Order: sequence, then structure tokens, then C-alpha cells
Amino acid sequence: MTFCYRILLSLLLLFLPLSLSAQSAAPQVSPATAQPAPWWKHAVLYEVYPRSYGDTNGDGIGDLNGITEHLDYLQQLGIGAIWIAPFYPSPQVDFGYDISNYQDVDPQFGTLADLDRLTRETKRRGMRLVVDMVLNHTSDQHPWFRGSAGSRNSAKANWYIWNDGIPATAPGVTPYQKRYEHDGKVPPNNWISMFGGSAWEWSPFRKQFYYHRFYKQQPDLNWRNPEVEAAMFAAMRFWLDRGVSGFRLDAISMIYEDERLRSAKELGGVDALGDPRLDKLYLDNLPEVHGLVRRIRALVDSYPDHPVLLGETSTANVADLDHWYGGASQDELHLPINFMIGFVGTNIFSADHFRTTIGEAETGTHGGQPLIFFDNHDIDRSIDRFGDGVHNQQIARLIATVLFTVRGTPLTYYGAPLGMTTQTPTRKEDVRDPWGIAGWPKQKGRDGERTPMQWTPGPQAGFSTNSNTWLPVAPNYRTLNVQTESADPGSMLNWYRTLIALRRSTPALLDGSMTMLNPDDHNVFAYRRTAPDGKGSVLVAVNISAAPHTVQLGTGFAAGAQKARTLLASDPALQNVTSLDNLVLPPFSSWVGEAQ
Ligand code: NOJ
Repeated sequence: MTFCYRILLSLLLLFLPLSLSAQSAAPQVSPATAQPAPWWKHAVLYEVYPRSYGDTNGDGIGDLNGITEHLDYLQQLGIGAIWIAPFYPSPQVDFGYDISNYQDVDPQFGTLADLDRLTRETKRRGMRLVVDMVLNHTSDQHPWFRGSAGSRNSAKANWYIWNDGIPATAPGVTPYQKRYEHDGKVPPNNWISMFGGSAWEWSPFRKQFYYHRFYKQQPDLNWRNPEVEAAMFAAMRFWLDRGVSGFRLDAISMIYEDERLRSAKELGGVDALGDPRLDKLYLDNLPEVHGLVRRIRALVDSYPDHPVLLGETSTANVADLDHWYGGASQDELHLPINFMIGFVGTNIFSADHFRTTIGEAETGTHGGQPLIFFDNHDIDRSIDRFGDGVHNQQIARLIATVLFTVRGTPLTYYGAPLGMTTQTPTRKEDVRDPWGIAGWPKQKGRDGERTPMQWTPGPQAGFSTNSNTWLPVAPNYRTLNVQTESADPGSMLNWYRTLIALRRSTPALLDGSMTMLNPDDHNVFAYRRTAPDGKGSVLVAVNISAAPHTVQLGTGFAAGAQKARTLLASDPALQNVTSLDNLVLPPFSSWVGEAQ
């Protein structure tokens, strides 16, 4: 044990009962309201991709019982709530994001009884379950769509977005629209699907086009029809009544499209699939969506114990993010997911980027609670995205340090706490994500970040007894796995455990305000978290560069308060820091400490 965090880890693990949970931890009281903070302000959130977590029936695909089986691991990690990607009945074209029944479990994942057991067992360990709710679209195999597509006179005729199209000879029709000609008609506009091609698909029965923002097997619902809202609200009640603690609202910004179906402005150039790049004015963030979100908020607020609403809210700036909270009224999403901090490319990873985006999230959302994340099932793992190939381990620790010590609710992704890496397929024939098949080789899809969870150094990493897992287990599983890393005090997993334990036991990190330090430093991102009662603060400094840097963190402290103590550090050189002056941070190192 050379690193100081190892010492801290031993102390924390000794003195913090592992059963310490979001529920059993003393509730923090916000001084302004004297109300206990809702659980989601303090919980660490963890995304499970159910196909890839644990396979208990040997079919090579994860299932709900495979999550239940591993709840102790999550509890020991210090997780407060698990968000599970969709497990509902589905043809699995988009691996569950194409739902054919909103009130059941896909047999491939288990049964409703398994879900109830998972909910119960999660709660028994002081954690909670948040489920994905895909409101924008259904599967084309959902009975609603089958009815709707079957006839213009069906009871569900107006549940999706149907259009006659326009004559292929009409003025202004583009060659692109003409590619999708049927019966002399072309799609009514130039809108394209996220996953390639026109967003309009011809239905031979209705002799009309329907709109699909994603795959053609994912038709968009018509949310201007109140029956759709009533049906989806019933589905949400179904899960709340079963005891889930909230929803992650998929593609929430895409619920409504321009009613006049105006063509989008072309921005020039094409995407990886060769489709024109379009302005999203008529496709995303239509103002009506906020009324809907307020109604969803009222629905969840009518349930006890603060069910949470997370939203897939990819925004260009913090002003747009603020709308998702409901602005000054704060009556929309509790936790709109902030994509601007961590869902970004390699070239953006810098101290300046963090200071700006995290600072804006702090100040620009009318006091809303930031939801910070770096990884999910739609993007290469951050260890590879931000890794420079030399310092990847240090960089991953740095990302975790920021994730768990800035103000906000942290969301991590299965495998990140192990340092699991992206396994991008190298041959088209191995790709499972249809997006990657259509886009190969420019767009290789999302398989790389969805490979099976690595539990042990044994066969299939302990994920499955079946050697034919739905995606191959990453070759590095022999060293990167829960069992091996648990036994190594210097592992990534223990870095995560220590950070999360520190966060949960430190009021300044849970609820404290945040002040940026060294605002002009382009290499080191540093900040102070100060406990709500003013007593106690924590200092964090991460060096986002490949060279050592020296920082002065004493600014703002009373003279004589320049002495420091390390709480946690990624590097042996930072083990015995005694002063806030001239702190020398090795490349990509993380230091968490306090002034004395
Ligand atoms: C966002 C989800 O995260 C992604 O995986 C999915 O393909 C689309 N929404 C469509 O539901």
C-alpha cells in the first residue's frame, strides 16, 4: 500500500459500515427550507444495461435476475439508485428502445415477478430503481401501431404521425425525397432519421408515410392526441404503483415536431451515413413539450417518497438546459441530464472546458441540481474517449474524481468503476447495433460500450455460463473484473469505492456550495466545496495535462490557514501534502484534501 488513498480506503471501509445506504445515511437538511433533501440529491446513480449485466438463464443475454444477483456489489459500491435501460417486451431492434408493451417484462429478461423481486431487494438494501420510459416512439410491433397501420379507420388511426406525402412532381421536391418515392408520392419534407435515411416510411396498407425519428421499426407517437398521453400516463402509473422510484425519459426533447411539417434547413455536409445535416428547429425542443413535462412532473409528485424524473436532454447551452428544470419555477425535470460536460469528444477534455461547463451548470439553472455523467450506452467509454493512450488509468481516476466531488448528482455506468474499455467491433459481420451495420465503417455503432459486465477472471468473466454471449466479453476481463479488483487496494474499483464513500460521509461534498479556484489556470481544474453550515470544506484539484503543474490553493482562506491534509490522491507524490501553497500535481493526477 503505497498510495494514500489506500490508507483512506482501509479507514473508510473499516469505519463506514458497508450497509450504509442512501436511506440509512442521516438525512441532510437544507438550511433554507429545513426539509430533508429528496433522496436523489444525495444518491449516486448507476446505469445498468440489462442485456450486459448478468445472465442467469444461460442464454448469453443478461436478465433481471442477473441484476438482483449483483445487488450486494452495488450496495458496497455505495450506489443509491439504479437506472435500468428498457426491459419491456420488444423485438429488440434497438435493444429494448422499441417497446411493444409498456406494462410487462420481455421474457428474455424475465417476468414481472422478477422485476418485483428486484425492486424489493433493491429497497431492502437502501437503494432505488429508476426505469427507462420511452415516450417518443413505440415498436412497430406494438398493438397500437399495428392497429394504426392496419387501417385509416382503426381506433388507433391517429396515434402516430401519418401523412399522405406529396406528389413526386411537386415543385421543390429534392432528389433526396425522390429516393423514397411510392405510388408517385414522396415524403412531405426532408426530415431524416437519426439512424439513417428518410424519417418517413411508406405503409402499403394505409398508403401513407409515417414518421420515425429513429429506426423505421420505431414509429413516433402523435402526442397531440390526448389518448396517447392518457395511455402513457397509465403506463407510468403502472410502474410507480409497483414501487419504482422514477423514470429516465428517453428522447424527451423529440416528442413533438413542427405541426406544419416544414422542411428543415440544410446545414451543409453529410453525416456518417451520408444524410444531409439538418437544423433541428422543427424537430427538437418544441415549446409544447414543457407543458407535457409539467404534467408528468405532477403525476410523479402525486406519489410518495419523491420519485425522480431524469431526462435525456441533450442541449447546446445552459439556458436550454434551464428550461428542462422549469426555469425559475423548477417544476419540470428534477434531473435533466447535462450532456455538455462529459458527453463530448476527446478534443474538448480540458480544465477550461470543465470550469466553464460545470460552472454554468452551477449558476445557470435557477438552483437546479446538476446531473453529471461521462458514460452511457450510447457513446465510447470515457476512459478511451479522453484517454491519451499513456495515462488512461490516471485519466479515468480523474474523471471519477470530478464526477463524485463536484456539486450535483453523479451518474455512472456499469463497467466504468472497473475501468472497462470500449470494444469497438473490427469487422462489419460482428456488429450487432443496426446503426453500426448501416453506417459501417464510418459509424460503427454502440456495441463497443455495451459488452458484458466483467465480474470474475473465470469463463465469460462470470457474466454467463454460455460461451456465446450476445457481444463478446472484452479480452481484458482477466485483470479488469470485480473479483480481482476488489482484492487490490490500488484498483480502479477501489478508487471508485473510496471516492463514493468519501462523498457520502462528507457534508461539503453532498450539499456544499462550490467555488472555482485558479480560474485562469488552463491545466488544473480546482474548486472548493463548502459545507452548508460553513463548517468544513473540501478542496479538489485535478491536473488535466500530461505535464506536472504547480498550483496555489490558499486563496480565500484566512492567513494561517494554508496548511493542508490529503484526503485522497491518485499519486504517491501527493500523499503527504501539508500546505495549500505550491502543490505540485503530477500529470493527470487528482488530489482531494482539506485546509487545516
Ligand atoms: C436514446 C437511447 O439512449 C438510445 O440508446 C436509443 O437508441 C434512442 N434514444 C432511441 O430510443
